[in-house]
Amino acid sequence: MTDTLLADLVSAIPAPALLVGQTERIVVANTEALSLLGQAIEGRHFATILRQPQIIDAVEQSLRSKEPGRARHLSNDGAQDTTFEVQCRPVNGTDAVLVVFQDVTHLEQAGQMRRDFVANVSHELRTPLTALMGFIETLQGPARDDTAARDRFLQIMADEANRMNRLVGDLLSLNRVESEERVRPKEPLELTGLIQSTLNTLRPLADDAGVELSLDAPNEPITMVGDSDQLRQVFTNLVENAIKYGGSGGRVDVIVNLSERDTAMRGPAVRIKIIDQGPGIDAKHLPRLTERFYRADSHRSRELGGTGLGLAIVKHIVNRHRGRLKVDSELGQGAVFTVILPR
Ligand SMILES: Nc1ncnc2c1ncn2[C@@H]1O[C@H](COP(=O)(O)OP(=O)(O)OP(=O)(O)O)[C@@H](O)[C@H]1O
Ligand SMILES: [Mg+2]
Repeated sequence: MTDTLLADLVSAIPAPALLVGQTERIVVANTEALSLLGQAIEGRHFATILRQPQIIDAVEQSLRSKEPGRARHLSNDGAQDTTFEVQCRPVNGTDAVLVVFQDVTHLEQAGQMRRDFVANVSHELRTPLTALMGFIETLQGPARDDTAARDRFLQIMADEANRMNRLVGDLLSLNRVESEERVRPKEPLELTGLIQSTLNTLRPLADDAGVELSLDAPNEPITMVGDSDQLRQVFTNLVENAIKYGGSGGRVDVIVNLSERDTAMRGPAVRIKIIDQGPGIDAKHLPRLTERFYRADSHRSRELGGTGLGLAIVKHIVNRHRGRLKVDSELGQGAVFTVILPR
């Protein structure tokens, strides 16, 4: 094979790739490799460029044995870490070794997310389960003939079982929403009526919490295309959160606005704001609020029976409607959750 053909082939590889010759110098590197490892690397000894022991060993090994090798390469461009799976392959008919870098950061992250998710679910289920097991044991033993204690324990057990039931329900709902995320909803619906009826359902909860619930919407009906069950789920969770976590402010306002040219949607859209006057949310929590199981105040959320999945579900539903969810809050200043939907 001629040297220029070899160089052309290396530059055609759609990933950082370089060729190390028998003299242990980098003979050719493609543009992807230059931007990963630095511009002036051709002609340099590979060990002064690659530097990480694992990959130096792999390349040396391949040069010597003419066998394939592999290694991990971690790079950091200041802003983020990238993990590469590096493959070393001896090139037939030459003394050179081809080194190709494959970016596996996303795979690693997906794996980590899956492990975190399983750990989270197990933990969330184990807490009520442990409580149930404890009470069953007590009822079988010490509290067997204590009628008053038995009634109290059964009530706690029912609450814990409900919590598990809610968690499983939310997980299934999240799963369904995620799998449908790319399917556009196509049912015609009227938004103000839908929000009104959601608020009616939540009124008892608001009354119990001493919260005044109000709706301010345009007079004309707002017809649009969407999934009414899912949108109802969105407003239920947002208003329920505002009552549960922001109820100390005494009122929750829902304001609906139409606009012909929404800045976020670049077209006709409707904005639904859910505003509470409660304790608000610390800025450090805002970016992670829609992650599964993320709670800003985990003690309070658990105490109120929250699973921490509500906003994750909301976000997926809003995405499915090609909309956006915005959260504005400051500690002590209440919170504003805005759903922006294109029309
Ligand atoms: N209006 C709000 N004011 C203050 N904190 C809020 C508000 N809304 C949400 N949060 C915080 O965000 C967290 C996540 O909310 P999310 O709806 O995802 O979970 P949850 O309400 O705990 O559980 P679920 O909705 O599944 O019952 C809450 O636990 C709470 O700490
Ligand atoms: Mg919630």
